[in-house]
Amino acid sequence: MTIWVPQLSGDGPRYRQLATAIGHAIESSELAPGTRLPPQRRLAHALGVTVGTITRGYGEAERRGWVEARVGSGTYVRAGSRRPAFSHVSATRDDDGVTDLSLALPPADTERDAALARALAGIQGDPRALAHALDYQPEGGLDAHREIYARWMTDLGLPVDAGELIIDQGGMNGIFLALSALGGRVAAERLSYPGVISVAGQLGLRLVGLDHDADGLAVDALAARHDQQPFDVLYVMPEHQNPTTARLDEARRRALVDFARERDVWIVEDGVQHLASAERGTPLYRLAPERTVYLFSVSKILAGGLRSGAMRVPPGLRERVATVVRNVSWMPPPLIAAVVGQWIASGDADRQLARQFDELEARRRMVEDALAEFSPCTRAGGFYAWLALPPGQRASRVVERLAEARIRVNPAEAFCVGSEAAPQAIRLCFSAARDRAALADALVRIREVLAAPAPSAWQTI
Ligand SMILES: Cc1ncc(COP(=O)(O)O)c(C=O)c1O
Repeated sequence: MTIWVPQLSGDGPRYRQLATAIGHAIESSELAPGTRLPPQRRLAHALGVTVGTITRGYGEAERRGWVEARVGSGTYVRAGSRRPAFSHVSATRDDDGVTDLSLALPPADTERDAALARALAGIQGDPRALAHALDYQPEGGLDAHREIYARWMTDLGLPVDAGELIIDQGGMNGIFLALSALGGRVAAERLSYPGVISVAGQLGLRLVGLDHDADGLAVDALAARHDQQPFDVLYVMPEHQNPTTARLDEARRRALVDFARERDVWIVEDGVQHLASAERGTPLYRLAPERTVYLFSVSKILAGGLRSGAMRVPPGLRERVATVVRNVSWMPPPLIAAVVGQWIASGDADRQLARQFDELEARRRMVEDALAEFSPCTRAGGFYAWLALPPGQRASRVVERLAEARIRVNPAEAFCVGSEAAPQAIRLCFSAARDRAALADALVRIREVLAAPAPSAWQTI
């Protein structure tokens, strides 16, 4: 009889590596729900580890909610235990009565369609813009488009020169371009944006998990981590961490940059996931311009479907990024950049940003009020709340019970880098509810689930 034998890799003890391998095998459908895991003795023999390691690994996978031990029968993959796939975008919002709070989408904006129509009309009335839209252009985009992006970013507290920018196709594209150009080992917080985990996986780049706390990346621990597992690139979201909402203070930002200079590490600074707020700190690219890529996108401000953004690239990296752009798509689509340019130049972008900010603030207050007893973490300009669950509650169970209540959220597990166990916490994107009424209704159901006593252990096995 053949048995499933995983390849153990990554940081940490073998039993955790085994638990993580089980999670990955479930995610890739290699292990289907209901599958019985191999008998412990046989797997221990196949992997050359002790039976105790397998017992602890299966126990860890059970603790993470992926498998269940059945007395006298073995350990089985649980139904519904698939780690949520990255980028699972449903075609419509709130369809079938489900309120999907799993994706950080900007709140619906009824005036957006009219702004798009105006931007398109602006291009139609401009023969030069029409001609540019149909021609091949340089990899970094047209000068005129880069200038408009640079002016707007500067107004938003992100001072840049047009010459430093490469127009891209949004934040994900920026991550792909940056990591493709840089290569090497990539370090990210142990909980981080799943997009970076996915891109690193696709490019075959090893990920190194970094410690973080309520105030963001644990910068003090970077040197020791680098000694242990050297890395070449540090991906970080200093302004608004996804998923925890943490923000790095100025002292940590400066210490981070000192570390990067000392160890010659590149920084990829992702600024996509929030709207600019008055409390913005100093962007890392201002502190270390020679080694920091900054990612900016209009997805969360204007519309995700536009697929447009701009990366601020250090001079020493520009040609490498341009080569990747050429290899992927020759250039960013000029028509889209022209639409965004019109949207910004007409003032529609600023008006939309102001409306979005107010809407997000109103929703954030709703979450703070409705879930006050659970102390949700939120921050101005953010799209989501991060919620550590009450003691005894398991994130996988809470996600399941919310799904039964027709609400979708993400467990901490979806953001895990490396083999560390995820904390019992969920991310709740209040921005994505259809409107405030839908959010209010969802918050009542979420409160009920969180306040319900955690099921006792004997009920779950
Ligand atoms: C931190 C972060 N970076 C990048 C992206 C991707 O942005 P875009 O939609 O512009 O590709 C997201 C999307 O949610 C994000 O949260």
